[in-house]
Formats: sequence, structure tokens, C-alpha cells
Amino acid sequence: MSPAPTASGETETDLSSLRGSFIVLGVTGGIAAYKAVELCRRLVDAGAHVAPVLTHAATRFVGTATFDALSSEKVQTELFSASEPIPHTRLGQSADLVLVAPATARLIGTYAAGISSDLLGATLLATTAPVCLAPAMHTEMWRHPAVQENLATLRRRGVLVVEPESGRLAGGDVGEGRLAGPDQILSAVAAALSRRGDLAGLRVVVSAGGTREALDPVRYLSNRSSGKQGYALAEVAAARGASVTLVTTVQRPVPPGVEVVAVESAEQLREAMLDAAKAADVVIMAAAVADFRPKAPAATKLKRRDGLPELILEPTPDVLAELARTRPEGQTLVGFAAETEDPLGNGARKLREKGVDLLVVNDVSRTDAGFGAEDNEVTILYAAGQVTVPLSPKATIASAVLDAVLARRAGDATRG
Ligand code: CTP
Repeated sequence: MSPAPTASGETETDLSSLRGSFIVLGVTGGIAAYKAVELCRRLVDAGAHVAPVLTHAATRFVGTATFDALSSEKVQTELFSASEPIPHTRLGQSADLVLVAPATARLIGTYAAGISSDLLGATLLATTAPVCLAPAMHTEMWRHPAVQENLATLRRRGVLVVEPESGRLAGGDVGEGRLAGPDQILSAVAAALSRRGDLAGLRVVVSAGGTREALDPVRYLSNRSSGKQGYALAEVAAARGASVTLVTTVQRPVPPGVEVVAVESAEQLREAMLDAAKAADVVIMAAAVADFRPKAPAATKLKRRDGLPELILEPTPDVLAELARTRPEGQTLVGFAAETEDPLGNGARKLREKGVDLLVVNDVSRTDAGFGAEDNEVTILYAAGQVTVPLSPKATIASAVLDAVLARRAGDATRG
């Protein structure tokens, strides 16, 4: 929904999710720091508790007294404070969201690298709350590959970036890099907060990775799935308040709050999924399950001297179809479809045949998306329509899939 203009000329954004929230407002040292004063005022007006954290460089552009007068608590600038021994952990743990506006190239770089040399850097590492960055810098700096790669890293980790606009920059230059307008930043913050906890109370089970089907004790048949999309789904669902079980064939860093069940083969994945799904509200089959497996895997290593082995395959169980047959009432079931041709046609057929509520279709013939890539572009199919999510980091795709799950569950509830 686009913001509506008011009589005063200010646009009105739905900021109701800000009421009662705790926002850490990070301000770094760029000329746009003065615009953070307006953001601070509008956040407080919308009912947020605002704790400003200024870097030393920011204090050269804007005075702490200005923020002190407008914010909900005194400005902090020091990692070591006499009144509060470890301010970054209190700020990080209390925050419902950390907004950094403006975010300089330096802040973006240190945050991407995990460096916590000042209070704002330490707070960013000490929080599990959503983080929103509004960059502002000269066009050349904005376009520098180092800045863009650091932002890509942060986006992959789920950080929201409110892109700068084109316009007048410091020193009279004109170009890309001007801090986004306050309405745009505030509506991004409000949207992130409105998702906070929207999956609380739901038990979500996700599968991830390609299964491995043994040929002998050392060799297996598998596929190119990296498990990244399944991990992103688990991470985003947990961040939005769900209790999450991830059944996975690949080991990656475990997202906070996610219970992991490690499996290898289609059969092990089947058993783990059927077990976990019994008590689940939402089941998402993002794993690339092998369709065939060696019928009789050798008990000992196949030896070269014994000549070429004859490989006889048999079908694996269709886990998704079995989950659909056995699902408890009220459970939402999501399938994925990896396609190399006619993705939407094949996807629509799978949606019907597999008996799922939602089917997420991705075209795995592309190299910039899907298997192994950091980004994905998908179409989410459901009985009454479809939503296409353009090429985006897998965390963004995960959020869109979870939004579709919630929309589907809300529709079911109203139909009774
Ligand atoms: N799937 C499954 N068990 C299998 C194969 C696939 O549960 N043995 C699930 C996948 O996790 C995915 C969905 O079914 O959610 C579709 O997988 P996909 O490989 O795209 O389709 P297939 O069922 O293998 O159909 P096809 O061979 O026609 O592509």
C-alpha cells in the first residue's frame, strides 16, 4: 500500500506496528546525519521507544543534545560507559529493531566483516532483532564493488537495506547515494516490525538439502542442492517467532533457535519428516529428494579390479505425497518444484498431483538463481492464483513463502 498524502503535505504511512517497540537508532558520520533527527522525532511520535547510538564521526555532523531532547533515552556514544558497564548487550537484547540511518560505507564494511570497534558495531553484533540499514554516501562510493559486495553479504544474512535515492549530495554533486526519504525508511521499519512474532505459536518443519543414496559405504548418488533455501526458511521462520525443526542432509551454521535433525538418505528423511510433521502446523519440503536409489548398495567398497558395477535403481518414496496423505487437519503443506523446462506448467501439475497448499517453483536451469546460488527467483502457486518473487536473496524468498503460508492459513480460518 502506498502512503497517502495528508493535508499538511506529509505522507502518512501505517506506523501502528511501531507503538511500544524498542528501536535502537544508529547514526553514523555522514552529512545525512542531520536527517536522523527527523527520523528520531517521527519514531517517537509513532509511539516507539528510541535509543540513539551515535558514532564519534556522527557527533561531528550533529549534536548529541539534539537527540537527547527528542529521544526516549539519552544518546550513547561510548562502548565503555561509567553509568552502564555493557551498554551494547542491553541495547542489542532490548531492541525490537536496529535502524542505522545514515549508514556509511565504513559501517557497512565493518558490520559485514563482524568488526565491533565501537558501541554501534558491538550493538549490531549483539542483537538478534531485525536490522535495517539506510545507506547514504557519494555515488562513487555507493557503486564501489566493495560496498555492493558487503551489502550483498548483509542482505543474505537477512539485513534490510533501504536503497538510497538520486539527488543532491554533499559538496553540490548530484547523483545516486542520497539517503532515502523518511517515509520510505519509516515504512520499511514498520513493515519489518509488523512481521515480528507473526509466526509465534506455530510449529514449522522444514527439510533442506539433497539426499545421498549409497552405492557402497563410500560412494553415493546425489544432486546439486546446497540446502541454502531450506536453511533460510528455517532461520526466517524462527526469527518471526515459530518453533522450528530443520531436517537436513547438509551441515551449515545452525540458525538461532532452530532444532536440527541430520539425515542422509531419502528413507531417513522420510522417517524424520513423518515423525516431526505429526505435531506441525506448517511443513515445508524444500529438500531435493532423490527420485531413484541403488537397489542393492554394496556392503563393502566396490573395487576397481572387479570391473564396472551394474547399477540397478529403484524408486524412492515420495515423501511429500505421503505427508499430504497423512497430514493432520489444519496443517499447511508446502512443496518445492525444481524444473529445467516449462516451470509453471510442471509446477501447476505438481500442485494438483501432490495435494499441497502451496508449491514454490524454481527454474534450476539458470546459473544466477536456484541450486547453490545465493539468490533465487520463484513463483509461488496456490489453487486460486500465483505470486512471483523476483530475483532476491534466499532470506527474502523465505519471507515471501512464509507470508503466503500465513495468507493461506488466514483464508482457511475465515472460510471456517
Ligand atoms: N519430493 C519428495 N519425495 C521425492 C521426490 C520429491 O518429497 N521422492 C518432494 C520435494 O521435496 C519437493 C517436491 O516433492 O517438495 C517436488 O520435487 P521435484 O523433484 O521437483 O518433483 P518430483 O516429485 O521428483 O517430480 P518430477 O520427477 O516430475 O520432477
